[in-house]
Amino acid sequence: MQNNTFSGLFIGRNLITLKEVDSTNTFLKNALSKSTPLFDGTVIMAESQLAGRGQSGNSWLSEAGKNLTFSILLNPNFLAIDRQFDLNMAISLAMNDFLNKYTAGGAIIKWPNDCYIGNKKIGGILIENIVHGNIIKHAIIGIGLNVNQEDFPAGLKNVTSLKQALHQDYNLVHLLGEICSIIEARYLQLKAENADKLRDEYLSQLYLKDEWALFRFENQIQSGKIRGITAIGQLILETTEGLRYFNNKEIEFIN
Ligand code: BTN
Repeated sequence: MQNNTFSGLFIGRNLITLKEVDSTNTFLKNALSKSTPLFDGTVIMAESQLAGRGQSGNSWLSEAGKNLTFSILLNPNFLAIDRQFDLNMAISLAMNDFLNKYTAGGAIIKWPNDCYIGNKKIGGILIENIVHGNIIKHAIIGIGLNVNQEDFPAGLKNVTSLKQALHQDYNLVHLLGEICSIIEARYLQLKAENADKLRDEYLSQLYLKDEWALFRFENQIQSGKIRGITAIGQLILETTEGLRYFNNKEIEFIN
């Protein structure tokens, strides 16, 4: 389906809506591997994902027709692979901008890219890069946002939706259009500037930054204070034994 209603320059101009798919990220990845020509900024949106994928090999569960599950194809050939976290910051900030608009500033980013309202997760981001040489040739930006879902499986703790938080139903395609414009603005900022300003903003929006909190690492619950993020996206944690650096799967937040 071609789309002419989104207001941005390129993200979402080509919108493909699928009733059912395994995963919108996998769909885009397969299309690219078959050299299917796709415009930069193509968006694949699904009403239902049969095998939605989340971070760290987890699945992403979303009630059919109630939420946004979509992937954006970007060709950030200005970005070397060692700057992939800069793209993560731009997309996380864009989702945070969008959520702040709806929640009067109540949104926050949980490192590395969870979308939170208060202390509950409302959305997640899965970025998969296809690299040529040391350049990111394609980035598949997969986003799941809980919108109109009211009930969640009992095993899913600390999750929410716009409907749960704001007691309203939302038009999914309208929200998608807004998100695409906001992502485009942050992406163009990343392209035009060095990432320092994005990094400062990302840090200012980071959940538990500069607060003592509990984390699990090295099989123990220990307290620490988030002090920053390295250029490659490692979490810098102040502990009683000094500064420690963690990759994504090496540390868990204890709520
Ligand atoms: C997370 O674990 O927080 C990331 C979740 C990302 C889910 C989205 S839904 C659309 C896209 N397709 C997928 O299979 N995953 C991402």
